[in-house]
Amino acid sequence: MLRTTFSKRLFSQSMANQYKVAVLGASGGIGQPLSLQMKLNHKVSELRLYDLRLAKGVATDLSHIPTDSKVVGYSNAEPEGLAKALDNADVVLIPAGVPRKPGMTRDDLFSINAGIVRDLAEAVAKNCPNASICVISNPVNSTVPIVAKVLQKHGVYNPKKLFGVTTLDIIRASRFISEVEGTNPTQEKVNVVGGHSGITIIPLISQTNHKLMPKEVKDKLIHRIQFGGDEVVKAKDGAGSATLSMSYAGAVFADKVLDGLMGEKDIVVNSFVDSPLYKEEGIDFFSSPVTLGPDGISKIHPIGEVSSEEEALLAECKETLKKNIAKGYKFVEESK
Ligand code: NAD
Ligand code: LMR
Repeated sequence: MLRTTFSKRLFSQSMANQYKVAVLGASGGIGQPLSLQMKLNHKVSELRLYDLRLAKGVATDLSHIPTDSKVVGYSNAEPEGLAKALDNADVVLIPAGVPRKPGMTRDDLFSINAGIVRDLAEAVAKNCPNASICVISNPVNSTVPIVAKVLQKHGVYNPKKLFGVTTLDIIRASRFISEVEGTNPTQEKVNVVGGHSGITIIPLISQTNHKLMPKEVKDKLIHRIQFGGDEVVKAKDGAGSATLSMSYAGAVFADKVLDGLMGEKDIVVNSFVDSPLYKEEGIDFFSSPVTLGPDGISKIHPIGEVSSEEEALLAECKETLKKNIAKGYKFVEESK
C-alpha cells in the first residue's frame, strides 16, 4: 500500500515536472515577474529566457531559487540564441515589445510590435512548431493573426495551439465587479469575450449574479473593465503599462495551458483564438471560453446568452476586430 502511494507520488511528480517553457521578452516589465512565476511552477522542467538585453542576468538570478527546474538565459548577441531558447519548447510566452504611454491606443504599438512578433513567430515556426504559443504583446487583436499567418507561411500552423492572452480582462472584471458589489473578488467570475482593446472587450454582466445592477452602475463598470489598461498607463505616467497584474494573469494562463497538456480534465479559459464563432461574418479570431487538452484547444464554446445591450456592444466589437485582424494579415502578406 505504502509502496503504491510512494510510486504514484513519484509518477505524478515526474509527470508534473516535464515541460520546457520559453519566455521571449523575459527581461521586461512583464517578462521578469512572469519568468519568476514560471520558475515557481512545478510543471516546468526547463525555463528558457530570451531578450535583447539582460536575459542571462535574469536567468542567473532565478536559477538560485530551489525549485526543480533549470533556467537558462539567451540573448540575440550569441549565435542561435533565439533558436536555442525555442528548441523543442512545449510552451512559448511572448511579452516582447513596447508598451503604451499616456495618450496612445494599443493599435499605436502596431508599427513597432508587429515586426517584433512576426520575427519571433518565424523562429517559433522553425524551432518549435508544435509549441503552445501564448501572445501577450499588443495589439493582441492584430499580433495573434500575425503569428497565425507566419505559421501558415511555414506550413506549421496549428490553430489549436495559438492563444491571445486576455486573462487580464478576466481578472480585472472579477476585481472591479467585487468593488461595486462589495463581494469577495475570488468568488466573482465574469465571462469577458471579444478582443483585447477598449470597445472590443465585452464583459457579459448579464451572465453574472449581478445582472440586476442599476444601468448607470453597470455602464460605468463595463467602461472600467474595457479601459482598465488606461488606468495603469495613466498612473505609471510614461513608464509603461500593466506589468505585475499582467504577469500574474500570464502565469495563471500558462499554468492552465500546462494543465491541459498534462491531460487534466475540464480546463476552461477565455482566450483570443482562431474561432468558428463569427467566421461567417469575416472574423477569424475571437475570445470566448475554450477547453484545453493535451493537444491544445479541444473545444471552443459559444459566448452564451447575452442581453440586448450586450448584443449592441458585440456589434461594435466585431467591426473593430475585423479591421484589427485584417491589419495583422496584411502586414505579413506585405512582409518579404
Ligand atoms: P517592457 O518594455 O518592459 O518589456 C519588453 C521587453 O521586450 C524588453 O525587455 C525588450 O528588450 C524586449 N524585446 C523587445 N524586442 C524584442 C525582441 N525582438 N526579442 C526579444 N525581446 C524583445 O514592456 P512590458 O511592459 O513588459 O510590455 C510588453 C508588451 O506586453 C507590450 O506590447 C504591452 O502592450 C503588452 N501587454 C499586454 C497585455 C495583455 O493583456 N495582453 C498586458 C500588458 C502589457
Ligand atoms: C492592459 O490591458 O493593461 C494591456 O493591454 C496594456 C495596455 O496597453 O493597456
